[in-house]
Amino acid sequence: MWKGRFAQATADLVQQYGESISYDWRLYKHDIAGSIAHARAQVKAGLLTNDEFQQIETGLREIEKDIDTGNFDFSIELEDIHMNIESELTKRIGAAGGKLHTARSRNDQVATDTRLYCREQIDVISDHLIALQTSLLDKAEEYASAVIPGYTHLQRGQPVTVGHHLLAYVEMIARDLARLTDARKRVNVSPLGSGALAGSTINLDREQIAKELGFDSITTNSMDAISDRDYIMELLFDFALIGTHLSRLSEDLILWCSSEFGFATLSDAHTTGSSLMPQKKNPDVCELTRGKTGRLYGNLVSLLTSAKGLPLTYNRDLQEDKEPLFDSIDTLIIALSVNTEMIADMVINVETCEAAASDPLLLATDLADYLVKNGVPFRSAHELVGKAVAVSVETATPLDQLDLTKISDHYGADAKDVFNLQTALAARTNPGAPSIENVTGQIARWRTEMQ
Ligand code: ARG
Repeated sequence: MWKGRFAQATADLVQQYGESISYDWRLYKHDIAGSIAHARAQVKAGLLTNDEFQQIETGLREIEKDIDTGNFDFSIELEDIHMNIESELTKRIGAAGGKLHTARSRNDQVATDTRLYCREQIDVISDHLIALQTSLLDKAEEYASAVIPGYTHLQRGQPVTVGHHLLAYVEMIARDLARLTDARKRVNVSPLGSGALAGSTINLDREQIAKELGFDSITTNSMDAISDRDYIMELLFDFALIGTHLSRLSEDLILWCSSEFGFATLSDAHTTGSSLMPQKKNPDVCELTRGKTGRLYGNLVSLLTSAKGLPLTYNRDLQEDKEPLFDSIDTLIIALSVNTEMIADMVINVETCEAAASDPLLLATDLADYLVKNGVPFRSAHELVGKAVAVSVETATPLDQLDLTKISDHYGADAKDVFNLQTALAARTNPGAPSIENVTGQIARWRTEMQ
């Protein structure tokens, strides 16, 4: 379609090297929608008759149906989705097909298609995020009052509940969703009409085209419009960050399912066995999610790197934007789906959790708070409790069994009451803290917000 000035045929290897149809075929619906909107604007500009428009629209719809049903032969000689469709259209309808590309370039066309595709996929991924969030929220509700140790440095710190722990991920996903909603605004801008780089001497109604395609507005600089890929990079970052959140959740679940922790059991349907060790029940889904997060990071870095040295405007390097985008989207959709199911089926071993949370050392901070309430400055209280912990370790006596009144006058007979786990948890009523009352309140808030 661009061979006018060439005397020699393109080398086979160049064709193989340069084709994108093997992956950009998935833009076909967006490419067709863009072409129909473009053709309608051509009618308004007096470039196409109504009859020609009808032929173009019908031809494109038929091509769409053929691609839908797998009855379309893509050819790498036609490089990409844009030329595959246009060439087939002309084959089917003749002369009118040859008019479609007036005042348009593949450069504004591909930018339009990918923006439409990104917009659609943002909505798909948002739905998957909401499903995972709902699954986590249901589990948080089921185990709102199941106590577990909260960890820092993977050392037991203070008591929390499974509900509170899972709600932390509900919060992260809410921010992931907000980021996608924000990115969608920058995605939903129409570049069509920017031509190869400098618009066109033939003016089409860009606003009309944008409106037909559901864009909120049009781009305002043709050079930026066709060479910018920052809307993709931004999404790849958002996807990578979702991966980070999923990967941390995976790591928590891997720990929880280990014999050492024993806090949770995943269903047989969401775990796998070992071909050698008959006893094994492995959390492969979690490990794969943690591993695939590496791909999500790689895809972001790949596109940032491909674009960083490019002078304005279009350079073929930009064709390398699509595979990382598609891969991140595919990776994320299956990761979100499988995690949603797996969490719904997960069982928390409440007694094991409670046994772990009953370690009196988890309430050492509460003991320091007790001293503070009796007038001891926090730093001194910290030291006094630290000494008690040392005695507990040296004498192998649990902290709650020591006679604290022998260690310091600041302890009263009521110091022992600190070690009641339920009271200790119930006292954590500050906004954001894990009292069961707070957790229940947060669950109710999420239910309302997510409606
Ligand atoms: N397949 C190309 C891409 O994805 C479409 C744009 C081609 N433009 C060009 N000037 N060769 O970037």
